[in-house]
Amino acid sequence: MPWELINFEYKKDQRGILVPLEKSRNLPFEIKGSFYMLGMKKNTIRGKHAHKKITQVLIAINGKCKVSLNDLMDSEIIELNSPYIGLIVYPLTWIELFDFSPDCIILVLTDDYYDENEYIRNFEEFKKLKNTNKISLKNLYKKCHYEPKIVVPFRELAKLNQKYFSEIEEGFRRLFQEDVYIWGEEVHLFEKEFAQHCGVNHCVGVGNGLSALTLIFRAYKELGVFKDGDEVIAPANTFIASILAISENNLTPVLVEPDINTYLIDPNKIEEKITKKTKAILVVHLYGQTCEMDKIIPIAKKYNLKIIEDAAQAHGAYYKNKRAGSLGDAAGFSFYPSKNLGAMGDAGAVTTNDKKLAQVVRALANYGSPQPYIFNYKGINSRMDEFQAIVLRAKLKRLDEENEKRRKIAEFYLKNIKNPKIILPYFRKREDHVWHLFVIRTEQRDKLKKYMEKHGIQTLIHYPIPPHKQLAYKELNQLHFPITEQISKEILSLPLYSDMELEKMKKVVDIINKFK
Ligand SMILES: Cc1ncc(COP(=O)(O)O)c(C=O)c1O
Repeated sequence: MPWELINFEYKKDQRGILVPLEKSRNLPFEIKGSFYMLGMKKNTIRGKHAHKKITQVLIAINGKCKVSLNDLMDSEIIELNSPYIGLIVYPLTWIELFDFSPDCIILVLTDDYYDENEYIRNFEEFKKLKNTNKISLKNLYKKCHYEPKIVVPFRELAKLNQKYFSEIEEGFRRLFQEDVYIWGEEVHLFEKEFAQHCGVNHCVGVGNGLSALTLIFRAYKELGVFKDGDEVIAPANTFIASILAISENNLTPVLVEPDINTYLIDPNKIEEKITKKTKAILVVHLYGQTCEMDKIIPIAKKYNLKIIEDAAQAHGAYYKNKRAGSLGDAAGFSFYPSKNLGAMGDAGAVTTNDKKLAQVVRALANYGSPQPYIFNYKGINSRMDEFQAIVLRAKLKRLDEENEKRRKIAEFYLKNIKNPKIILPYFRKREDHVWHLFVIRTEQRDKLKKYMEKHGIQTLIHYPIPPHKQLAYKELNQLHFPITEQISKEILSLPLYSDMELEKMKKVVDIINKFK
């Protein structure tokens, strides 16, 4: 296209901002002409011309306006609204500026001196000239670096955490008085409150989600339930931490394909993978939706298997009136900052109704020590710190409310995204999903991701390479899971966070609906 946007690098310090404009730094040409326009009335239209030879860069150094560009093959309207972005317009492009804000000042820089003969001020003449002139506009100048302004970020954690500022501040004051920084009163209270929230008897606050899961498997080993080489069924399309927790304990992950609609482990494919060595099923409530427990529990019962939940993405989600974290024998949670219940650092927890298991997990997380100076196991150090417990206690009170907001955003997307190229996520029941991620699918995923980026919408992929294709799991690299591999190439996570404004949701919908 004969126009493009460039980002100006600028210097910012306590004195203010400086934007240098010269060929050696930001601009694609040596400046020969420059002028600025101001005092335009809202209904004024400026421009209405094309240049035969001149290239120009337009910058809204104050206020904003719209610029319509047309080269007869393409046309586009761009809003110029930042002193740090320049619009390069190459020759033989019809340009009109309109919709000026009252404070708008447009700076125009050109690569040659003003020459009236060089202007085309009549559109019919422009069309004629354009059709006879077959100048290649490509590579007229070296391509300038342009990073689109982020209009819709994937998440806004600072904004979310800000809401809890006074409660966290209050907790921080308590921390100074308490003078205990790890596994103190705040962690103790959080454990009680989170256990109650999940509907279980025990909760152990640990260092992170990976530790939570790893410690569950380890504790079952210490209790003689699992031994080295035993097999654990797990979904093939999960985050690598689920699998690391298994292999770290010298247990063997046996991967099962997900259901193509829910992206959750396919219960119909579990039984065929069970051998004499199988000791557990790791269910991952991926993206925030609980797994189909009614189909999984009978299989576990039939073969006497433990059910371990990876609930890292499903805080507060239900399955038939029971919460994630209470649906199996034990569950591991992550409170990584971006999770639905997120700390301001690393944190995790194990929930269970099994008192003995909780005791062993607690000891293992504390060097293997059930009481001071007694070490029953070769444990690790993975304890929740008091500050994270303060943050989590403040946020837990409003977790259901925040999850409800997520549901409403998901419903907005589900209702309004209408594009035959996009497969929307399936959900079983409202309460069963807490929309940690809103994951769509399309055969043109990479193209869609780039297109969204171009329009300032941040998207992520959860996850682009499944564990069995990672270098870390060379021994699994030759395995083939067609559904998992297809999903990994087609999925894209859209921005969804509890405080997302309607304007941003509408922008996502509008842009995605126009994707061709
Ligand atoms: C499904 C799943 N399992 C495990 C983890 C590991 O949690 P953490 O990052 O707290 O170690 C995460 C998140 O990062 C996750 O999404």
